[in-house]
Amino acid sequence: MARHKIAVLPGDGVGKEVIEAAKIVLDEIALDAEYIYGDIGWEFWCKEANPLPERTIEMLKKADCCLFGAITSKPKQESEKELMPELQGKGHSYYSPIVGLRQFFNLYANIRPAKAYPGNPLNYRDDIDIVIFRENTEGLYSGVEFHPLPEEIKSALLKHHIKMKKFQDVPADKIALSCRIFTVEGCKRIIRKAFDYAIKMNRPSVTVVEKPNVLRETSGLMVREARKIQKDEYPDIELWEANIDAMCMWLVKNPQNYSVLVSSNMFGDIVSDLCGQLVGGLGFAAGANISDEYAVFEPVHGSAPKYTGQYKVNPIATLHAVRLMLEWLGENEKAENLEEAIALNIKEGKVKTYDLGGISKTLEVAEDIAKKYKKI
Ligand code: IPM
Ligand code: MN
Repeated sequence: MARHKIAVLPGDGVGKEVIEAAKIVLDEIALDAEYIYGDIGWEFWCKEANPLPERTIEMLKKADCCLFGAITSKPKQESEKELMPELQGKGHSYYSPIVGLRQFFNLYANIRPAKAYPGNPLNYRDDIDIVIFRENTEGLYSGVEFHPLPEEIKSALLKHHIKMKKFQDVPADKIALSCRIFTVEGCKRIIRKAFDYAIKMNRPSVTVVEKPNVLRETSGLMVREARKIQKDEYPDIELWEANIDAMCMWLVKNPQNYSVLVSSNMFGDIVSDLCGQLVGGLGFAAGANISDEYAVFEPVHGSAPKYTGQYKVNPIATLHAVRLMLEWLGENEKAENLEEAIALNIKEGKVKTYDLGGISKTLEVAEDIAKKYKKI
């Protein structure tokens, strides 16, 4: 029996292409693993009205972890139109299957490294090395949304504060509401993950990125918990606090000053795209979605429909996802060697995709990295 069982979900569009690239490298690495492939994404929304079929969830449960490609998401009305005719008008509504996976498996930490590798012409600076810890199951992406607004929610709003009177005469279908839900436990576990990482990797500081001056109860809760946890459990690591808006400016001004960031779901989503762009953009950004038992690894980029079938996109983001997966599986030497092979490919700057000004195809870059891995 193989040592690891890995579920692979290529998904849509270029997801399939980058997973093919990942497989080239995994084969070279000779990871002692069994790979099982599953269905996810747009095709299954159109055919089955479910982009994350039950059988896929069952399959994932049988694996140690999952490697995920990319999926296409479209807004509500557009998605309904693409359902097979017999499925239309039955009240099915599209939801993002990656968000679904994060919720289902309680993958509460989304860890997104943003490191500048020497020689990457897209680096904003060469001394950036930030890791973002994004809370992944709560906050504004909890999935609690209303439109039209039910009467009981409206009356709760009206009772909440005199200022809410301005909504009194707004018809139910002319108002929408999304809830930003934070729990103490949810805040604590992501904050501890960030601090544990800082300790393990010898990082000097953790910056909590929120907006407690306005979002007093949710961001306020996160910051208060961060202060307590730092004081009681991690006195040797500094805690810095920054507001999300100002942080976007600081990250453009002095990204080299930051090390580990921790934030809630939506702010973490935003700030991790910003950090990703500082070190080369979507071709380089990967993330690990983890719980205490399970993990899903993914490139941050989407399915890029306009490039589908062209084998054009940069596979490095997915190869970083593979590297994070190897670390999580305890295959540390393989992970380090893969990082070195990726770094060598970037430094050499010969075999590179269009985003780096090159003409190489997705699989050619993967082959080059596999070849470099072999030589290490
Ligand atoms: C990401 C993506 C997803 C998110 C989308 C596709 C739902 O933007 O992984 O950052 O917002 O989490
Ligand atoms: Mn995002």
